[in-house]
Amino acid sequence: MDSSAFFILLLSSLVLSITEAFDANYPPLKCGHGALDISFPFRLKTHQPQHFDLFCRDNSTMIHFPAYGDLVVKSISYDTRKLNLLDPKNCVHEVFLNLNLSLTPFHYYYVVKKYTYLNCSASLGPSVREIPCLSGSQHHVYTVESPASVPDYCRAIKTVAIPFAYSSYLSDNSFGLGLTWEELPERDHSGFRSKTVLIIVGMVLIAAAMLISMKILYSKRLDSQGDKESQFSEDLLPQHQGC
Ligand SMILES: *[C@@H]1O[C@H](CO)[C@@H](O)[C@H](O)[C@H]1NC(C)=O
Ligand SMILES: *[C@@H]1O[C@H](CO)[C@@H](O)[C@H](O)[C@H]1NC(C)=O
Ligand SMILES: *[C@@H]1O[C@H](CO)[C@@H](O)[C@H](O)[C@H]1NC(C)=O
Repeated sequence: MDSSAFFILLLSSLVLSITEAFDANYPPLKCGHGALDISFPFRLKTHQPQHFDLFCRDNSTMIHFPAYGDLVVKSISYDTRKLNLLDPKNCVHEVFLNLNLSLTPFHYYYVVKKYTYLNCSASLGPSVREIPCLSGSQHHVYTVESPASVPDYCRAIKTVAIPFAYSSYLSDNSFGLGLTWEELPERDHSGFRSKTVLIIVGMVLIAAAMLISMKILYSKRLDSQGDKESQFSEDLLPQHQGC
């Protein structure tokens, strides 16, 4: 066998074996040994979820939180692992009050702090801002830092760890609704990407090997044609010198 052909074969088998090793790290989704392989358009719902389900409504991308309901997905940053949400009801502090992330793979992107939601039958005065979207004419809802004592006209609704207390300056429908997720084995995504990179690297190596072997073959041919060539250049040389 030609040495260059052997070189190409060696490289190809190396690339194949690396690709197979990657495949072994990301086995196809299936229900057990010998069970059928599952791939697109079917998807296996695993207990440790591989995917977070999004859906469409009114041309918006939505996500459902089991204990809460639906929120609009404004944007997703995959490298910083940040999910920016919007509250369609435009009441972020109602989301903070009711969203329980403990059984989801998500947590707030921001550092959280414990606040107590108070529901008061009278106003706490101008020094504390009530949450407009949770308050009414007969009740006033506030977020306060763990109160030493709750006035008797107030009822503590719940104490929750949230990114921000209510502020009228920060009251749009998305401020604070940033979540991050725990890193999961990125089966489809990274498996596919590293495989693609490997295949490209392999192709480049094979192309390089082919170029090198062509060069070797060419120089061999040149050597064997050495006699003819020297004769050929002797024919040419006098003409060049004449110019
Ligand atoms: C969604 O987009 C389509 C096409 O732009 C439009 O015709 C339709 O009215 C939109 N639906 C809603 C609920 O906004
Ligand atoms: C969230 O849900 C978990 C599990 O159901 C529960 O233990 C926890 O108390 C809840 N947290 C809040 C703030 O309601
Ligand atoms: C606050 O109290 C009022 C009156 O009892 C009630 O209607 C309202 O739903 C309560 N709000 C919250 C957020 O618990």
